[in-house]
Amino acid sequence: MAPALMAPEAAIRRFAELVRTGEVEEPRGELRLGIDLGTANIVVSVVDGGNRPVAGAWLHSTVVRDGVVVDWAGATTAVRRLKEDVERRLGHRFTRASVSIPPGISEGDIKVFRNVATAAGLETDEVVDEPVAAARALGITDGCVIDVGHGTTGVSILAGGRVLKSIDEATGGHHMNLVLAGAYKIDYETAEIMKKDPARRDDVVGVIRPTLEKMASIAHAALVGYDVPMVYLVGGSSSFPNAPDVFAARLGRPVVRPIEPLFVTPLGIPMKELGDDRG
Ligand SMILES: Nc1ncnc2c1ncn2[C@@H]1O[C@H](COP(=O)(O)OP(=O)(O)OP(=O)(O)O)[C@@H](O)[C@H]1O
Ligand SMILES: [Mg+2]
Repeated sequence: MAPALMAPEAAIRRFAELVRTGEVEEPRGELRLGIDLGTANIVVSVVDGGNRPVAGAWLHSTVVRDGVVVDWAGATTAVRRLKEDVERRLGHRFTRASVSIPPGISEGDIKVFRNVATAAGLETDEVVDEPVAAARALGITDGCVIDVGHGTTGVSILAGGRVLKSIDEATGGHHMNLVLAGAYKIDYETAEIMKKDPARRDDVVGVIRPTLEKMASIAHAALVGYDVPMVYLVGGSSSFPNAPDVFAARLGRPVVRPIEPLFVTPLGIPMKELGDDRG
């Protein structure tokens, strides 16, 4: 781990712990709320005035597919529930939130993400590109962020904290489940459980390795012609112990994957940008 990443890594781990345990931290300064509507998970995050993680909550959901909200009522209900959950724990009412979007989606689809927050009683503070949110949590402004989620692999090249280039292709944890289900003649839900079970790791890694290699190839193609020294791997499907090595081998560059890759993007959504003195 590069020394510069140690403080962000500690904050990401603490945020993951807050989400899993329901604990809250004593906040200092203004509280900010973030909403991440993913294909597999909805995560809300709260940071304080110093960008420190204060609270979080999540639930499994299927309200987004291919970067588009496909279940409006489900999304709204889930966001409202999660918001109320952290409000109760913090003794604080939120009226605003920042929301993340997959980079490159249409204005119309962006509006739907905003409207979900509005319907849950939250005005939109900021609409943040997912890789920009990840970069904030990682404390970086330049480099490549690869997000391997449930539905897709997103590859974004960042410069000065903004997205220079971004692609998104349909290979994610969903495809790993399909491969596992086929290999072991089990149903999809059983494959999802098996995939995440540390006790079954040896039975899983070999079978899903070609899917990881496919993801690395997607990243390799996206990086052609770009001088990117460092690559950051985030998203739940990068949780496998061998994921950084598979990507590093294909990309010929060092690859950094935080210990809790599921929680990087959500934590970054409500964070203030460095040098941004709002609130
Ligand atoms: N410990 C783990 N080992 C392997 N895979 C995991 C683990 N934890 C979560 N996953 C997988 O990560 C995926 C969810 O990751 P994430 O929450 O980043 O996706 P998402 O944001 O909902 O999806 P997308 O980015 O495609 O919209 C699921 O496929 C899930 O099975
Ligand atoms: Mg995601």
